[in-house]
Amino acid sequence: MKDKITLLYNGNEHEFPLIKGSENELAIDIKTLRQNTGLITLDPGYKNTGSCISDITFLDGENGVLRYRGYDIADLANNSSFIEVSYLLIFGELPSKSDVEKFENDIKEELLVHEDIKTILKSFPTGAHPMGILASLTSALISFNPGSVDVRSDEKMYHAIVQLMAKFSILTAWVHRKHEGLPLNYPDISISYVENLSKMMFMKPNKNYSNQSVITSALNKLLILHADHEQNCSTSTVRIVGSSEASLFASISAGISALWGRLHGGANQAVIEMLELIKRDGGDTKKFMSKAKDKNHPFRLMGFGHRVYKNFDPRAKIIKQAADEVLSDLGVNDPILEIAKGLEKEALSDKYFIERKLYPNVDFYSGIIYRALGIPTQMFTVMFALGRLPGWIAQWKEMKLNQEPIGRPRQIYKGRKHRKI
Ligand code: ACO
Repeated sequence: MKDKITLLYNGNEHEFPLIKGSENELAIDIKTLRQNTGLITLDPGYKNTGSCISDITFLDGENGVLRYRGYDIADLANNSSFIEVSYLLIFGELPSKSDVEKFENDIKEELLVHEDIKTILKSFPTGAHPMGILASLTSALISFNPGSVDVRSDEKMYHAIVQLMAKFSILTAWVHRKHEGLPLNYPDISISYVENLSKMMFMKPNKNYSNQSVITSALNKLLILHADHEQNCSTSTVRIVGSSEASLFASISAGISALWGRLHGGANQAVIEMLELIKRDGGDTKKFMSKAKDKNHPFRLMGFGHRVYKNFDPRAKIIKQAADEVLSDLGVNDPILEIAKGLEKEALSDKYFIERKLYPNVDFYSGIIYRALGIPTQMFTVMFALGRLPGWIAQWKEMKLNQEPIGRPRQIYKGRKHRKI
């Protein structure tokens, strides 16, 4: 195979190297394109554009494969803890027993936030969307932890990372408590990361709290499944914001805002709202399938389709099975699960969906589990953000260590030519 691509332009031949990934995926390296030819590429939505070379996550959308650092997503979801997977993504290897203990203990050291964060939280209006509050509070953490901005040594980088892993779990729980009008719970460092999250979120002032392993293990699995997904919208946002030398916390705050949109992480909220709408409307899934296919109607089947997966999203398969198990373990009978399964069945045998290779994505069933755990719809994307946190951190760290240049796409200007006032 030739390892160069030749571009013929204006009678001249220009050669560009081919780059090959470890799983044989190929790219044309166009770093010298403009310098040598005066041309740029145009690719709205970056459908054909690689923004970086990365060692973190491998995704083969045609074959429904997802691996973190070489490990299959199903193996990790079934055998690892969220903290182990976070360590794997951020530091490159699955941790030894002592590695994971140290990482978890270092996080526990940082498991507190300044009391003034409570004042900021309190000042948000009742009914404010939890994602807006989460993005604001993540940014506010910088003022209370100014040292996190300096990551010029390995120790400082590590410290900023454990600070964020710790404090973000408190913000997640507190945003939930604010949304529910419940008093804020402080962390308990005697239990694991995910158990503590669950306790901070669900412990009621009028009830004794006992850990429910069904809830902890469901949360653990969902967080792992969301932990990274290579260069998606929010991760690319984190990398591009960080490339301007904005701090880790500032970059993550921007990533949270990108995740909020309903075409991205916000789809988990949109799926449940759609399923509830179908239920209220009498449960006629065929009617909504027709709307989804009607180009003159804005309705889309939320939780279906993916920019990269043109086959089953492997995370959706795991989540669908987990939804069945969690609902049965908790004794929850949610009619919208049946509507979801009905929609999926119809879509998978429908010409429109088959031709466009539209399959259920990670968000199609995740909301049904969150709902069964007692998490309100508006909180779903916050849970996704906590899961994605180690992936964002790993990608930001890789961008920094590779000293990637500031992200700055070009454009083709089609506005008015020069004119005088
Ligand atoms: N319902 C109906 N039609 C759809 C859907 C859908 N959910 N998704 C894509 N299509 C159609 C498009 O209308 C288009 O049809 P056309 O070729 O006749 O014009 C074709 O399938 C290709 O879709 P695009 O929008 O071009 O694909 P793109 O890669 O730009 O978008 C996206 C991917 C945004 C995920 C899209 O499938 C979608 O809107 N899905 C619903 C929202 C959703 O579930 N988002 C979560 C994604 S997972 C995540 O981010 C965590």
